[in-house]
Amino acid sequence: MTYISSNEIRKKFLEFMKSKWHAIIPSAPVVPENDPTVLFNTAGMQPLVPYLLGEAHPLWKRLADSQKCIRTNDIDEVGDNSHLTFFEMLGNWSLWDYFKKESIAYSWEFLTSPEWLGLDPKMIAVTVFEWDNDAPRDEESATIWKQVWVPEDRISYLPKSENWWAAGDTGPCGPDTEIFYWVGESEFPPEGSNVANDEDNWMEIWNNVFMEYNKLPNGSLTKLPAQNVDTGMGLERITATINGVKTVYHTDIFSDIITKIVGVLGVEKWPQTQKSIRIIADHSRTAAVMISDWVLPSNVDQWYILRKLIRIAIRQAYKLGYKWEFLYQVSEVVIEKLWIAYPHMLEKKSEIIDEIQKEEKQFWEALEKGLKEFDKLLLWFNIALEKTWKIIDTISWDKAFKLYDTYWFPIEMTQELASEKWLKVDVEWFNQAFAEHQEKSRTASAGKFKGGLADDSEATTELHTATHLLLAGLRKVLGTHVFQKGSNITPERLRFDFSHEEKVTAEELQQVEDFVNYAISTNFDVTMTEMPKQEALDMGVVGSFWEKYPDIVKVYTMKSWDEVFSIELCWGPHATNSSTLGKFKIQKEEASSRGVRRIKAVLVK
Ligand code: ALA
Repeated sequence: MTYISSNEIRKKFLEFMKSKWHAIIPSAPVVPENDPTVLFNTAGMQPLVPYLLGEAHPLWKRLADSQKCIRTNDIDEVGDNSHLTFFEMLGNWSLWDYFKKESIAYSWEFLTSPEWLGLDPKMIAVTVFEWDNDAPRDEESATIWKQVWVPEDRISYLPKSENWWAAGDTGPCGPDTEIFYWVGESEFPPEGSNVANDEDNWMEIWNNVFMEYNKLPNGSLTKLPAQNVDTGMGLERITATINGVKTVYHTDIFSDIITKIVGVLGVEKWPQTQKSIRIIADHSRTAAVMISDWVLPSNVDQWYILRKLIRIAIRQAYKLGYKWEFLYQVSEVVIEKLWIAYPHMLEKKSEIIDEIQKEEKQFWEALEKGLKEFDKLLLWFNIALEKTWKIIDTISWDKAFKLYDTYWFPIEMTQELASEKWLKVDVEWFNQAFAEHQEKSRTASAGKFKGGLADDSEATTELHTATHLLLAGLRKVLGTHVFQKGSNITPERLRFDFSHEEKVTAEELQQVEDFVNYAISTNFDVTMTEMPKQEALDMGVVGSFWEKYPDIVKVYTMKSWDEVFSIELCWGPHATNSSTLGKFKIQKEEASSRGVRRIKAVLVK
């Protein structure tokens, strides 16, 4: 088969959907416009949630687009064969219009008709939803697949963990049917091979979700007023798969970008350099796209992620021995590649390039000073050794933090430099200080309220009180190793980071939730006492970042007449009495960083 480029695939997809009476809509910006709870659009359907829930779309009930998506949860995996932080998702939607039959028929026609992609039907296998307590087995999709052509032994029934799709913990969701392409060694899949029995040799290329349910905050499913279809096909992956190349980095999407990186950095494409080159390639795309959608490098939320991506890319170049600004040159190629689909990137070309170059320049200036500071530190260690015969083998957390805070040294860089000199770094305390720092920067951007509060509205204050109970509940259920690592509260929800290694189980979360709701139900008064810091420490008051507090501290106590729920060091403010809080509900538990978990929760009135 001749090579089919990513631009051609995108174009054909939109043309095809247009021929099936879909309105073609532009991609929404990568930062969701009306949803402060997520940092980026992670799927094509995200900007369409209100319409999937029943609101009428101003254009039409059939839509298709190519949506810019950013997923940063697997950022550490970038550089392998498949993970990317930025990708394009081709998708088509039916809003209360067609359902399984047309959706499957359209996908099949687009993939296999010689007029469109012309893939060989023998190379395709599919999966459908098996069954669970909430929803029936999807025989209907299986029957439709058989009707269009797919033989029975290429159809696998898989459980909810595989064939159910939801964007978040609540909202529109439903069973899905996924389409796979043969990527095994042999030219054609052997007879009887399918996704269930030969998983590694089939690559998922397209997901058709039949959204007919809405998941409520209490976890139950209700039927949506009508049936919708939401499909998603990652452009990078389909381009790689159908062209038979090994990875997304071997497609035209990345080839010019990689050529540029290799040229600018003056490195060879060796196995040792591959990962760094790929990371730079991925991050350069994400950075350019973010800036084109009004994100600029800074210290909070999306802005911080952009800064981090740029710094990671620079660090990779540094690893390859390159110590100058370069990423801005790569971003030029990125824009060249993407503006056809996202024309505003061309309009913003000089802004994108300038911003990246500015950020790079600042970073290098800071690093240079930092390296001098690091050398001074080593000198000081040597002097200490000569004078006192005391060997210092660890860089203390505050020194590492100064390198980070003043000179922008990522902790990994400090660790690397340290290990070259056979030194260790006190990472644990560094991380604690780091978490505190993050919290403070968020607070600064959110209106200068202490302790991660977005404002001092009643709703926020009540969630703050609930946060204390949450910490107390976590320490009760999981153990006293749990400490606060960060907190961010808006009037809508609380977000709480805490030290804990493993995922918290559903059962444990339930126990924590029950504890908090029980405490609330006692209608306790919140009391505050001011006392010397040492006294609070001696009393065993729970708190993090003690060193940041003044000598006289505030201690907030929450207790009923016979039970103490929480005594915690805090800046306030808090609700005066728990009776106004309502019902506490945990919405999400996830990893935040290494050894730190994150919970999002709300109070339902
Ligand atoms: N929303 C579905 C996905 O992202 C199509 O896989």
